Amino acid sequence: MHTLTESPAWQALESHRQTMALASIAQLFDAEPQRFAHFSLRVGGMLLDYSKNLVNQDTMHLLAELARARGLGTQMRQLFSGGKINVTEDRAVLHNALRGEQAVLVDGVDVMPQVRATLQRMQAFSDRVRDGRLGGHGGRYTDVVHIGIGGSHLGPMLATRALAPYTGGGPRVHFASNIDLAALQRTLAPLDAATTLVIVVSKTFTTSETLANARTVHDWLSRALGAAAERQLVAVTANTQHAAEFGVAAEQIFPFWDWVGGRYSLWSAVGLPVALAVGMDGFRQMLHGAHEMDEHFRNAAFEKNMPVVLALLGVWYNNFFGAAAHAVLPYDESLALLPAFLQQLDMESCGKSVCVDGTPVDGDTGMIIWGAAGTDAQHSFFQLLHQGTRLVPADFIAACQPHHTGEEHHAILMANFFAQTAALMNGAPNADNPHDRFPGNRPTNSLLLDRLTPHSLGQLLALYEHKVFVQSVIWGINAFDQPGVELGKKLAARILPELDNNEPVSGYDASTNGLIDFYKANRETQFRERGPQ
Ligand code: F6P
Repeated sequence: MHTLTESPAWQALESHRQTMALASIAQLFDAEPQRFAHFSLRVGGMLLDYSKNLVNQDTMHLLAELARARGLGTQMRQLFSGGKINVTEDRAVLHNALRGEQAVLVDGVDVMPQVRATLQRMQAFSDRVRDGRLGGHGGRYTDVVHIGIGGSHLGPMLATRALAPYTGGGPRVHFASNIDLAALQRTLAPLDAATTLVIVVSKTFTTSETLANARTVHDWLSRALGAAAERQLVAVTANTQHAAEFGVAAEQIFPFWDWVGGRYSLWSAVGLPVALAVGMDGFRQMLHGAHEMDEHFRNAAFEKNMPVVLALLGVWYNNFFGAAAHAVLPYDESLALLPAFLQQLDMESCGKSVCVDGTPVDGDTGMIIWGAAGTDAQHSFFQLLHQGTRLVPADFIAACQPHHTGEEHHAILMANFFAQTAALMNGAPNADNPHDRFPGNRPTNSLLLDRLTPHSLGQLLALYEHKVFVQSVIWGINAFDQPGVELGKKLAARILPELDNNEPVSGYDASTNGLIDFYKANRETQFRERGPQ
């Protein structure tokens, strides 16, 4: 059995790379006038142009061969049929079932009835909140506060912000995740507890930050409302027992299941704030958009398959050109949180050093995902993209139709979008002054949505979910666990009681001992009992 990098498919790519490393993307366009048509794909109203990459037909063919050799087809069938591909946690991975209709069996039981039942409960609940039949102590809910972190936070916050034009009179939805009390205080300060619904979202219902924030918000509600506070508290969790023990009434607990990964959970009841913000019809449209991408991913040939193509390009630059980072650049203020969402999705999924079978990975895995909204980003870090020494492939994302009527603004935005990818590719390699020289040949993908709607947002997020999955299959890693987050959590739990007094500590390395002692000596107040603020 070959290792990944010894395999014939990899070796073929390695020798092909030596040819391509001498090519320029601009020359590839000169040689192939139909290049835009050949290297672009459409799914529904979404266009992916990947012609501005250092690839030709041979490259894409060889990369697709690598995916075949790595068993991508089999892994995809496993994914969609409820196979326990999250092997380290012995779990199925079925976020696609949340937006599908077909029966899927886990341990012989169809998961779809519980999916549909929960959607119906979300529908009933969000309808009643939005039309005012269900309100707080002070009447109709004006505000919703969402408490969660990581996958129980980033997706709902991104979707709620992205779909702001679709709220149609729904309650304002606020998000607090950080254990830094400043975040929660800032969120709660302008709100009236009597008309605020609180949703605590945690798959495990054991995450320390979320539970501490939930206790603080619960106290805030109780101080204002007394025993009536409970009515305004909702939980979304796969650990319904813990939520009940926390004090959430059974009828206010929305379940999801261990086969929904945290960073893949937006499509479950974790999306409740989205349904409250834009209505359940909007939430269902988002599910339909994601389902459309699922069907494309399942059925399209690898060479014509949008998530597969994005993943193959990622592997190409990561493993054959040494690119360590990948930029995500939404030219759409509504998608300003997309880089943060994709950071967790990609880096928690692909930041692994061992393969599924526990052996060390053969080559680099997950890239550093980062980015910000254009055109703002142009005025901060684009200098490095254009003239820095490192290769940073980038995804540019925009919508053809804005939600506003400011045509001039949108034209300027789009002119910049088009200009940047052209400049990154063509550069200005012959400028007289070396400071004005741009090497060019910097690869980009352009994703154009017809319009940012619930449907196209669903498509876009599912596109990236599947991209991440394909990369994980090629690298041979498990995209659905995250053991690397545990060590720090355990250590924080051990350190926390040490902060209850002003004694010097000695149980850690010299740096950590020194830092804790410095903190104790310099904190403003002497030891205070921890508890609600
Ligand atoms: O610490 C990382 C993590 O486990 C993520 O994977 C997860 O999305 C987040 O914490 C929140 O977990 P929970 O939903 O269980 O509170």
